[in-house]
Amino acid sequence: MFTLLVALATAFYLLRRYVLGIRTLNNARKESLLRELGASGDKRVVGFFHPYCNAGGGGERVLWTAIASMQRTEPNMISVVYSGDIDASKEEIIQKVKTRFDIELSPNTLHFVWLRKRHLVEDAAWPRFTLLGQSLGSMVLAWEAMNALIPDLFIDTMGYAFTFHIAILLGGIPVGAYVHYPTISTDMLARVKSRKAWHTNSDAISSSSVLSQGKLLYYRLFMYYYAQSLRCASFLMANSSWTKNHVDAILCHEDKLLDVLHTFTPLVLLRLLQFGHVSPKEAKIVYPPCDTREMATFGLEKRGPIILSVAQFRPEKDHKAQLRAFETFVRKYPQFKEKGVKLVLIGGSRNAEDAARVDRLRGLAKELGIEAYVEFIVNAPYPEMLQYLSRSSIGLSTMVDEHFGINIVEYMAAGVIPVTHASGGPLNDIVVPFNGKPTGFHAISADEYADHFHTVLSMSSEEELELRSRARTWAVQRFSNEEFEKGWNESGWKKWVAVGA
Ligand SMILES: *[C@@H]1O[C@H](CO)[C@@H](O)[C@H](O)[C@H]1NC(C)=O
Ligand SMILES: *[C@@H]1O[C@H](CO)[C@@H](O)[C@H](O)[C@H]1NC(C)=O
Repeated sequence: MFTLLVALATAFYLLRRYVLGIRTLNNARKESLLRELGASGDKRVVGFFHPYCNAGGGGERVLWTAIASMQRTEPNMISVVYSGDIDASKEEIIQKVKTRFDIELSPNTLHFVWLRKRHLVEDAAWPRFTLLGQSLGSMVLAWEAMNALIPDLFIDTMGYAFTFHIAILLGGIPVGAYVHYPTISTDMLARVKSRKAWHTNSDAISSSSVLSQGKLLYYRLFMYYYAQSLRCASFLMANSSWTKNHVDAILCHEDKLLDVLHTFTPLVLLRLLQFGHVSPKEAKIVYPPCDTREMATFGLEKRGPIILSVAQFRPEKDHKAQLRAFETFVRKYPQFKEKGVKLVLIGGSRNAEDAARVDRLRGLAKELGIEAYVEFIVNAPYPEMLQYLSRSSIGLSTMVDEHFGINIVEYMAAGVIPVTHASGGPLNDIVVPFNGKPTGFHAISADEYADHFHTVLSMSSEEELELRSRARTWAVQRFSNEEFEKGWNESGWKKWVAVGA
């Protein structure tokens, strides 16, 4: 027992010396960074942990919009991006952001710290215990990051909450995050508990009780530490109400038994570092900005009787439900057949499976006797999709519990009236009343979809124009850069790095 205590004390003493060592070195590093950028005066450094910053996806649009807006409104802040894209240079990344997102970044207040250990957070590195492996990997990566440069504020924009501990331990700095997706959700935990087979819970595991118990313990421990990590944050943002609800549930996740066990591990000392820290009670929703500039210029009048669906030919999009809804519509209201009504399905097909799915959908259309009114456009070029968005009346989406639905934002910005499944993001975030008036329709059964099609296609032209323009105004505004910037402002990030703080 005594030896153990001595060993622990020595370990902590060495760690403490190590930490003080990097913090001292860091002052010089910061000074040399400011010199390199030619910056003078009292500057603050905001670090963005985003190892895949050059990927060009939705998460990267969020990152660069945030940085561009910070550059514009906060001249005393330097943005530092921790990136594993070591094959690209700063200039190349700035150039790519410009061509990919049309976002202008200034090189004067932007700096990159290159991380060489990014392979540690890749799926391939952890064929088993992926969640745990990636989380530990992200901590090592954050260790590398803090050794290169400690910012004044650390913001994770990729969902690596376990890195918070490292930023706090080595940097002694406040942390925050923009969460796109919870690493583990309370649903996942519940599903393992109920031993239902689903994608990461393979059949072999769910049918064997011992393994299942083991897996449950693994998830339970993981959830416990994930919740603890999130609570270390000073502020949290979520990209949608779906994500916010999950993060909020995790923030109040309790596990009394693990609390007690945890007290007997050295990890409990990490809490001392957070003495007096107030955990966030909830995440703030900050919707990602969507680029709707082009669609928002389309004329709103003279739309054809086209019902448009823009969605990859993936199973969860439920294109079958679209065909059934359309069949119900033309059966109930056959007069629209003469008016030339059409269902147009535009979508990407990624592989042979998707292609086979499209074939089956064509078969179903034939079976339902609607093939003359249905058109499939597979892997359409972007301009062709825009063409359809500018001419269609209705935008259809049948996916159940979709987390968001950028295609629906695009329908609305284009003036296409959305008819979506009554669940998820389309119900809670996107197609919601604006100034007390509807911006579209929700349905569950084929009959309901059909009746909404009928409503839209029978509107008077004034009514129709008003609805189209309301949907557009709402979508363009709600998912704009300004709204996003306002959300960041309100998250309170700035008070953690205010000059003079
Ligand atoms: C939030 O992020 C997740 C994961 O990247 C994504 O699936 C979802 O569509 C995003 N939500 C919004 C509102 O962009
Ligand atoms: C966000 O805050 C900055 C000042 O900190 C201000 O200049 C900017 O206009 C704000 N943005 C919005 C959209 O409120």
